[in-house]
Amino acid sequence: MRHIITSCLIAVCAMTANAQQTPVYLDDTQPIEQRIDDALSRMTLQEKIRVIHAQSKFSSAGIPRLGFPDFWTDDGPHGVRPDVLWDEWEQAGQTNDSCVAFPALTCLAATWNPDLAALYGKSLGEEALYRGKDMILGPGVNIYRTPLGGRNFEYMGEDPYLASTMVVPYIRGMQSMGVSSCVKHYCLNNDEEYRFNVNVIVSDRALHEIYLPAFKAAVEQGKAWAIMGAYNLYKNEHNCHNQYTLNRILKGDWAFDGVVVSDWGGCHDTDQAVKNGLDMEFGSWTNGLSAGTSNAYDNYYLATPYLKGIKSGKYTTKELDDKVRRVLRLFFRTTMNRQRPHSFLCSESHYEAARKIADEGIVLLQNRNNVLPIDRNKAKRILVVGENAIKMMTVGGGSSSLKVQRETLPIDGLRAKLGSSAEIDYARGYVGDVTGEYNGVETGQNLKDNRSADQLIAEAVEKAKNADYVIMVGGLNKSDYQDCEGHDRKQYELPYDQNRLIEALAKVTDRLIYVNVSGNAVAMPWKNKVPAIVQSWFIGSEAGNAIADVLTGDANPSGKLPFTWYGSLNDCGAHALKTYPGTWRNTDDKAAGADRIIDEEYKEGIYVGYRWTEKNRIKPTFAFGHGLSYTSFSISDLRQSAKEMTRDSKLTFTVTVKNTGTKRGAETVQLYVKDVKASVDRPVKELKGFKKVWLNPGEQQDVDITIDNTALAFYDETSSSWKSENGLFEALIGNASDNVTLKTRFTLK
Ligand code: BGC
Repeated sequence: MRHIITSCLIAVCAMTANAQQTPVYLDDTQPIEQRIDDALSRMTLQEKIRVIHAQSKFSSAGIPRLGFPDFWTDDGPHGVRPDVLWDEWEQAGQTNDSCVAFPALTCLAATWNPDLAALYGKSLGEEALYRGKDMILGPGVNIYRTPLGGRNFEYMGEDPYLASTMVVPYIRGMQSMGVSSCVKHYCLNNDEEYRFNVNVIVSDRALHEIYLPAFKAAVEQGKAWAIMGAYNLYKNEHNCHNQYTLNRILKGDWAFDGVVVSDWGGCHDTDQAVKNGLDMEFGSWTNGLSAGTSNAYDNYYLATPYLKGIKSGKYTTKELDDKVRRVLRLFFRTTMNRQRPHSFLCSESHYEAARKIADEGIVLLQNRNNVLPIDRNKAKRILVVGENAIKMMTVGGGSSSLKVQRETLPIDGLRAKLGSSAEIDYARGYVGDVTGEYNGVETGQNLKDNRSADQLIAEAVEKAKNADYVIMVGGLNKSDYQDCEGHDRKQYELPYDQNRLIEALAKVTDRLIYVNVSGNAVAMPWKNKVPAIVQSWFIGSEAGNAIADVLTGDANPSGKLPFTWYGSLNDCGAHALKTYPGTWRNTDDKAAGADRIIDEEYKEGIYVGYRWTEKNRIKPTFAFGHGLSYTSFSISDLRQSAKEMTRDSKLTFTVTVKNTGTKRGAETVQLYVKDVKASVDRPVKELKGFKKVWLNPGEQQDVDITIDNTALAFYDETSSSWKSENGLFEALIGNASDNVTLKTRFTLK
């Protein structure tokens, strides 16, 4: 705040000094490009260099002489990170930097509701604006390629169409507040282990069909103002300065007019940073998190070394002016935007948004014998089991860690909702990770328990025998090697002996409800013994309330999986083909560290997620797009606007959705397209449209989904362009990728 006020005063002085007439760059009735030209023409070389690199952990300089305030950014995708010291990762110790934690983006994706993505972006933008942040380092849209991926919880699942559809409104919502989004991590940062060393080798087709579409949509449709280069390499160049992905694709093909920001410490070379598309450098010499050096900011690749290079004639100012233009554009869109609305922090509307998104994102995976929703008449004694029922999950996980104003724990949400009509008991069941600290933010919880696994299981089983319902809240957590930045999971199985606990509980109760807290799928060898399974993600501040909403039926679950839930790791292409985590180029590279390379070849190509399982006829534990409700629906009467599509026309498919059950609920109609005959190998089917509708019992509604020929296209490697081939296609409609019940044919001419 202090910086903004000072800068504004300077701006006023600048205007007065410049006589009566407002300079063009300060005149917001003028077109932005003219204001940029004008500002650029007034800047000194030093001022230009200053705005293209950090001046603190999360800020970069403005142009005080011209009245441009400093520029402030912060993590992260699902809440505004607490403030750290100017040049340290330690907490600044502010008392006004607590936030609302929104559900992590896997949960948002699971809502399949773009309106909620808009609400999410706007609400988070409001929190950011209040906190004085001009850019939020998110959303993340890297594709879920392996269930071991440590940061999958921060992303939007495995499908390029779903992620594209959900990311666009998020960005628009956030940027409507005058706060820039910074879409990350561009690109091919699909696992965390060795993220600084991985050189991804991937076919052009998989790159364009699977890994780039969400970024492309973010840029072309979302009009994102910034994008973050990833740590890893592609074509042997770091993604923070990559000729191919930044200059050619992002700024060339997609005409991106925003700013490319480096991931923290992701810039490695002045020459490449100058030429290969990087615009703003953050976090260098800090390895992103810990190590630092004095006077680091002047030594940044895009600071003094660049300045010297220009002065010595090594570089012209051509690239510099392009970078500065982009930064000025970002300033005019954010810090210099005098129309920015009012904003709020921790407002009730933000809690409401968080709860609504969580209520719609939680996925009911299995519900045998209609164990759920909990019948309040039968629920006199409820046993809650598991560490995740009592553990705060907003602290940890890496840079997305938050300091929340409040977080309702699952056990407290259940007590609040059911405590007056039932006796609620708790058994720990397992001990996972009892630490609760990230970068100086502490949960303050004491979760220590020294009992052995056998003792914990025995206690839970004993108590379960007398309970009407047993709710086990388990899964992963935000500790290292779980759902956490920096590493991947080491195993697909649930950690901490939870499988043994679940098996033991299933033996003594037939009303066992397993609530899985994670951003990833886990092995469920006991699936057939547990009647109800709920995927509840990391849902932030409203975790306990939302879980209680769904378990009691106050919210009728409507989430659908944004990824395939594999039975075993080998059911996933990346693992079946043994391409993960890659091969070190030289045998001693692994030990040698930082600048060594591990090549990771995405041999499965476009066959990621359901594209892989369907091609190989593998039955997943739960399919992409799957999710149950407490009511039932019929989808019928498929109609199409024409039998043929041309390159200029669209085709609309219409179905009638009816709520055939007894509760109000939502169904998501999913449209998949199959290319019946193609000149290249194509997936069995691909998601190309969806729509979520809410219906009262007995109510029915016609649902339209419209596609054009881009929905039929594949990326043709010979011509390096998208191509849709004439011929026969099928439209497949259903409510999950493994439950398409309606089918029709059409041709492209
Ligand atoms: C992460 C980014 C994050 C940045 C700043 C990096 O280590 O990869 O996602 O935005 O740090 O905290």
